[in-house]
Amino acid sequence: MKGIFPIEKFRQLRTPFYYYDTNVLRDTLACINTEVAKYEHFDVHYAVKANANSKLLTIIREAGLGADCVSGGEVKAALQAGFPAEKIVFAGVGKADWEIELGLDNNIFCFNVESIPELEVIDELAAIRGKVANVAFRINPNVGAHTHANITTGLAENKFGISMQDMDRVIDIASNLNNVNFIGLHFHIGSQILDMGDFVALCNRINELQDKLEARHIAVNHINVGGGLGIDYHHPNRQPIPDFASYFATYAAHLKLRSHQTLHFELGRAVTCQCGSLISKVLYVKEGTNKKFAILDAGMTDLIRPALYQAFHKMENITSELGVETYDVVGPICESSDVFGKAVDLNGVKRGDLIALRSAGAYGEIMASAYNCRELPQSYTSDELR
Ligand code: LLP
Repeated sequence: MKGIFPIEKFRQLRTPFYYYDTNVLRDTLACINTEVAKYEHFDVHYAVKANANSKLLTIIREAGLGADCVSGGEVKAALQAGFPAEKIVFAGVGKADWEIELGLDNNIFCFNVESIPELEVIDELAAIRGKVANVAFRINPNVGAHTHANITTGLAENKFGISMQDMDRVIDIASNLNNVNFIGLHFHIGSQILDMGDFVALCNRINELQDKLEARHIAVNHINVGGGLGIDYHHPNRQPIPDFASYFATYAAHLKLRSHQTLHFELGRAVTCQCGSLISKVLYVKEGTNKKFAILDAGMTDLIRPALYQAFHKMENITSELGVETYDVVGPICESSDVFGKAVDLNGVKRGDLIALRSAGAYGEIMASAYNCRELPQSYTSDELR
């Protein structure tokens, strides 16, 4: 879809760069808000790890979402973008002391705690400040998700969370500490999940745990089910906005939320993925023995998902009207895994053409590296290139 890109503007810019269509982002956020408004006590946080670009964070904050952070750097980015501290949660299996202190000093809403030693450190650091920190426990629900092994997180074998058997003990320990206040349970089973049945399995597990807690007269005010809603990488134009209606309806139908409870979501990919493309220039077309290579100026340093997870990103030659030919599309990095796609059909490619790698708004720019002493990619929004 050439019409969606300001190609003349692109030609004046140094490539590679990320391009973010803010209309898609704003429409996505509007859809989230419309769907969430159908349910009482549903609250959506944006998982900053998906993309911490300050221009996008500002738009997301303006739409009223909270921020889910997994490092001190992300907490800083959220605060800088104007997210109110009372809408920031801080998760992560290895929080350093300075990161906990940053959260405490800024009075963030909640720490999602992943181990007993971490709970004790938060209590200690809060005591020094004469504060009481809200904590939620991340419970590993041992629920599998039908997604790539590297991005499943909710199985007993994964490093994340506190096991279900330990939950009671952790809650008991917290109740004996003076500077932490236990407010909720946190879960996250994986990412790029398209089968609503996986979320149903999580709901069933949470229902069981809630019954156990109630039997012990333990009150939980917040249930946080993490993120994970997937997007359609194959059809970014046909389905630019994920199916939020089914997603929230699944939780509404299957999770037995108590009347006093709030249900939190931490969506990353579903919020920003479809608004972003990596725009790259063709450096060379090389004739191999039995194939053609399109060699781009973008590589795995700019978008690592294909190399790391064999992830698919739709590619388009946005500057060619020539007939379709088949190419292996590769980057310039000195690694054999620096391949964006094999046997990719593209409109006839020549040096200087612009190639768009679609659905790159989540886990794209944020995962870029300087390997090979490369510069990090720039970014532009559609607002800036109008
Ligand atoms: N909450 C927690 C605790 C998480 O660990 C994650 C993602 C999210 C929320 C947001 O998940 P999402 O809604 O974006 O699926 N780099 C990988 C994805 C890693 C996801 C890690 N955790 C990729 O490029 O596919």
